[in-house]
This record gives sequence, C-alpha cells and structure tokens, in this order.
Amino acid sequence: MLASLAALLAYVVTRLTPNLQTVYKSTNNSMATERTFIAVKPDGVQRNLSGEIIKRFENKGFKLVAMKLVMSTEEQLKQHYADLSALPFFPGLVKFMSSGPILAMCWEGTNVVKTARIMMGETKPFDSKPGTIRGDYCIEVGRNIIHGSDSVESANKEIALWFKPEELLSWTQATQAWIYE
Ligand SMILES: Nc1ncnc2c1ncn2[C@@H]1O[C@H](COP(=O)(O)OP(=O)(O)OP(=O)(O)O)[C@@H](O)[C@H]1O
Ligand SMILES: [Mg+2]
Repeated sequence: MLASLAALLAYVVTRLTPNLQTVYKSTNNSMATERTFIAVKPDGVQRNLSGEIIKRFENKGFKLVAMKLVMSTEEQLKQHYADLSALPFFPGLVKFMSSGPILAMCWEGTNVVKTARIMMGETKPFDSKPGTIRGDYCIEVGRNIIHGSDSVESANKEIALWFKPEELLSWTQATQAWIYE
C-alpha cells in the first residue's frame, strides 16, 4: 500500500516537473512561454521553401512541438479564416489554401506569437523588410508563403483546429539552458 502510494507520488512529481519548469522560467523572464500556429502555405511548399522556414524558427531557438503536411479542406479553411469571410478576396484565399499541401506547425517559446509575426514580415510582401520571410521570398499578398497566428487567443484556436491534443509533444530542448537565462 505504502509502496504504491510512493510510486503514485513519484509519477505525479515526474509528470508535473516540466510544467513547473515552464512556470518558473516564465516568472524568471517576466514573459510568457507561448505556442503559436505557423503554416507554410501551398505556394511556400511548392517553391521548396519549407526547409528555409523551419530553419529560421529552429535557428532562432524556438521549439517545434508539432508538424504535419496536410491537404486542407475548404471547410477547415473557412473556419481558420472566419474573421475574413466578408472580404472580397476570401473565396480566392480559401481556394488557394486548399490547392496543395500545407505544412502545419506548432512552435513554442517565450513571446513566440509576436516574435513569429516579426520574423514573417507584413501581410503585404512589398511592405516587408528584407530579412523577414515575406520580405525575402515573395512578392504578392495572395502568395505570401507563410501564415502565423496574430494573437495568443487566435493561436490557441488555430492550434486546436489543426492539431489533435496528442499530436502536440511536450519535450525538453537539449539547448534550453543556452537559449534562456
Ligand atoms: N488585399 C488582399 N488581397 C488578396 N489577398 C489578401 C489580401 N489581404 C490579405 N490577403 C490574404 O489573406 C491572408 C490573411 O489575411 P490577414 O489579414 O489575416 O493577414 P496575415 O495575418 O498577415 O496573414 P495570415 O493570416 O495568412 O498569416 C493574407 O496572408 C493574404 O494571403
Ligand atoms: Mg491573419
């Protein structure tokens, strides 16, 4: 009885440890550990830019927690871009986004939602600075190769729309202590 109680306690402590570490780190940096939804759009996949985009997030230090290549349905895309449904380009956007594979990803790190948007550049590639993904690799707004959540709230909704809970992995980055203070 005592042995099984001790085993249960050990199990609970082990399961809680990564979460406690996350909370500690967040407090320590006074910034939140977040997750964001990033997708290489069909034009980015077709143009063989997936590796380049993954590399930028890896090099930055963010942690990949989920990734899959998907042929999305119009129904899923209408949900994903629901906020834009009244806009004239919406039908074309949904058609384009369902025209080929999308590389769906979830990245984790301190302030990742805002930082990813900065790394992506502006919605319109011609407003995007060189050095950003859209500034470096595309020309037109309707072919801007990458999607990134625009707020923590959108990120949570989008992650739930694109991934099942079991597809999101909790793991410890070996480089963590060299990326975070
Ligand atoms: N004026 C436009 N004409 C054509 N397509 C547009 C236009 N504005 C936006 N889009 C397309 O719709 C997508 C979603 O627009 P949104 O305003 O959410 O920009 P974003 O947040 O920078 O892009 P995304 O949500 O794809 O990351 C844009 O990335 C672009 O592909
Ligand atoms: Mg958007």
